[in-house]
Amino acid sequence: TRPLKVALLGCGVVGSEVARIMTTHADDLTARIGAPVELAGVAVRRPSKVREGIDPALITTDATALVKRGDIDVVIEVIGGIEPARTLITTAFEHGASVVSANKALLAEDGAALHAKAEEHGRDLYYEAAVAGAIPLVRPLRESLAGDKVNRVLGIVNGTTNFILDKMDSSGAGYSEALDEATALGYAEADPTADVEGFDAAAKAAILAGIAFHTRVKIGDVYREGLTEVTASDIASAKRMGCTVKLLAICERAADGKSVTARVHPAMIPLTHPLASVREAYNAVFVEAEAAGQLMFYGPGAGGAPTASAVLGDLVAVCRNKLDETTGPGESAYTRLPVSPMGDV
Ligand code: HSE
Repeated sequence: TRPLKVALLGCGVVGSEVARIMTTHADDLTARIGAPVELAGVAVRRPSKVREGIDPALITTDATALVKRGDIDVVIEVIGGIEPARTLITTAFEHGASVVSANKALLAEDGAALHAKAEEHGRDLYYEAAVAGAIPLVRPLRESLAGDKVNRVLGIVNGTTNFILDKMDSSGAGYSEALDEATALGYAEADPTADVEGFDAAAKAAILAGIAFHTRVKIGDVYREGLTEVTASDIASAKRMGCTVKLLAICERAADGKSVTARVHPAMIPLTHPLASVREAYNAVFVEAEAAGQLMFYGPGAGGAPTASAVLGDLVAVCRNKLDETTGPGESAYTRLPVSPMGDV
């Protein structure tokens, strides 16, 4: 079987782990897929940076030329942000490639249009890594629970803010000291405002609400409050009441089933609640479904290797689809429900 060619867009914390695992697990990946996968090009912004284990001949600064080559089977987009990622993904679909993306901001802004574009060209768009790093959530919601009816998704989906709140709670660390530590560990976004103001969690809430309820929710539909107003004394008073403070993403189907809401805000939760025991940068998501009942997904929600794990799982799925000349569930699997504006929370 001919090798499947993969283009990697971005080689930062996540991209470099993807490239490393593709090399070290090459035999396993070949077995899982049924054909070898070959890294055919790596687009970066700074070509002079030393990238261990990557053939320098694969490095390019011209991402557009790479996705236009025409012989690429799968594009892995780990650049983040809206542009140039959106144009590169669209161009990839037009030139024969399916796409694996970790880009929550883009999926939360323009997921519907990208799915439609993928479907128009008969390509796949997979993005398990966009929500809660290594934790399988997109596929369970989009596929495993597709025959059930999800009514509520509730979770901790930002590692940086959970790390900060946990440090403040357990060691009395100050806010900026905890944030610096989260940044050094590779959890925080390039601009941590996205984490602490709740934009990152809101993007993930929009994606989760969309796939959980098979509808379309954009980041702008999500009510959002970050944790910058949470003080050490708030955390101390929560503690005196037997509670802890967590930044929660809450996605719900209205009681009449006719609309959905999504919101992100700090919430006091009792220490006896399972979400209270989610420490450091871990994430956890509860899903309540009509037939399944309550499910909980827990694990590392940020960081290079955990996020790369999700990217590679998608790579295997997309490559299998490609060999089978099929695609995963796309835009036409969605039934649209209106998203209600949030009232008081
Ligand atoms: N900054 C994000 C977090 C990374 O802290 O959870 C994963 O999306």
